[in-house]
Amino acid sequence: MTTTAAKPRFDKGLANTIASESAMSWIDGQEGVLEYVGIDIDALARNSTFEETVFLLWRRKLPTAGELEAFSALIRGEYALPEPMWDIIRGVPADAGPMHAVRTLVSALALFDPEADDPSLEANERKGIRLLARTPSLIANFDRHRNGRDFIKPDKSLDVASSFLAMLNGERPTETMAKALDVCLILHADHGFNASTFAGLVTISTLSDMYSAVTTAIGTLKGPLHGGANEAVMHLLDEIGGIDKVEPFIRAKLDRKEKVMGFGHRVYKAYDPRATYLKTFAKKLAEDTGNQGLYEMSNRIEQIMHEAVGSKGIHPNVDFYSATTYYSIGLAIDLFTPMFVMSRIAGWVGHCIEQLSDNRLIRPRCEYIGPHQQPYVPIADR
Ligand code: SDX
Repeated sequence: MTTTAAKPRFDKGLANTIASESAMSWIDGQEGVLEYVGIDIDALARNSTFEETVFLLWRRKLPTAGELEAFSALIRGEYALPEPMWDIIRGVPADAGPMHAVRTLVSALALFDPEADDPSLEANERKGIRLLARTPSLIANFDRHRNGRDFIKPDKSLDVASSFLAMLNGERPTETMAKALDVCLILHADHGFNASTFAGLVTISTLSDMYSAVTTAIGTLKGPLHGGANEAVMHLLDEIGGIDKVEPFIRAKLDRKEKVMGFGHRVYKAYDPRATYLKTFAKKLAEDTGNQGLYEMSNRIEQIMHEAVGSKGIHPNVDFYSATTYYSIGLAIDLFTPMFVMSRIAGWVGHCIEQLSDNRLIRPRCEYIGPHQQPYVPIADR
């Protein structure tokens, strides 16, 4: 008996398509729940560290103290950039957009990795560690380069968040700032088949390499409908200018059917659970750093949006309060999305390794709507 393949159905934006299975993160969009390997994101944000969270995502369990120490040592052992990378950073134009710089520099790491094209699980795990360990140095030192400052090498005595801030600012971060960034890295580490993760999976499903897959993902995350939203939120706050202008500004934007950055989500139709925790963090950090006005404006925007579109399931997403948090940490606005890259490398690498464990080339169909059986007309007759 011949089985006819089911007729492919058109699902714009793949909004209602399950492309594969994963054991990394679970999202309940209706209830606003996010779990990494079954552990609620709020519990991880309050109790875990970025390194421990990466171990959880990649090894599917929380590490023992000894396992965590060994895993952290693995990461710190790979902090050092290949020497030629410093000249490559110097070659990036000082006015280059940071996401163009990060995409280019991360891609260049492949040139100095002898295992770049080794498809084995062990090599991919080692490449994942190198990508996670070296990207902070690339971002921090690109920023130093564009500001005419000397390079600073990573400090192996520090974790990813603290080592990054120490390179970026030329001094060790306060405990509060280091903790704030570490929490942001936990919250952004993974999120199912978001656009950048899915893009990376398409690349790795062709049996291309991990560096190519992560480069694909970085380019995808850059868009303001995805990872670029946190920078767009900051520009929105700047454009509004003051708490008394929030209501007319937001209502006019909605009347023009324009999207308010930092709100809405393809999956969450309830409050993004990452925004819940970030909001408390943003409030405290804003107070500690004299940025209360930003937090108050954000809170007011949230109130207006809740009244206007909350019933449509449009609520703050992770990017809305990460903007005030990153700004209060002292990060330049155009470094907000590179922060997302630093964290989401954990998710991208984990999903790529998961895809390869049971790979099938990802190649959807398209609904052809063009003409058929057209004649070839010689150019003289056109
Ligand atoms: C991230 O996918 C992930 O998991 C992503 C992420 C992750 O961790 O990887 O969570 C990170 O990317 C968060 C999202 C960051 N992006 C933004 O904040 C940009 C603003 N948000 C919107 O562009 C939008 O909400 C999307 C793109 C996030 C989701 O859009 P959908 O699912 O395609 O929904 P849609 O555009 O079809 O909107 C449905 C309705 C429309 O109104 P109607 O035409 O039905 O009247 O909701 C409205 C939209 O106009 N709407 C908004 C809105 N988002 C949706 N209206 C105002 N402001 C918004 N932000």
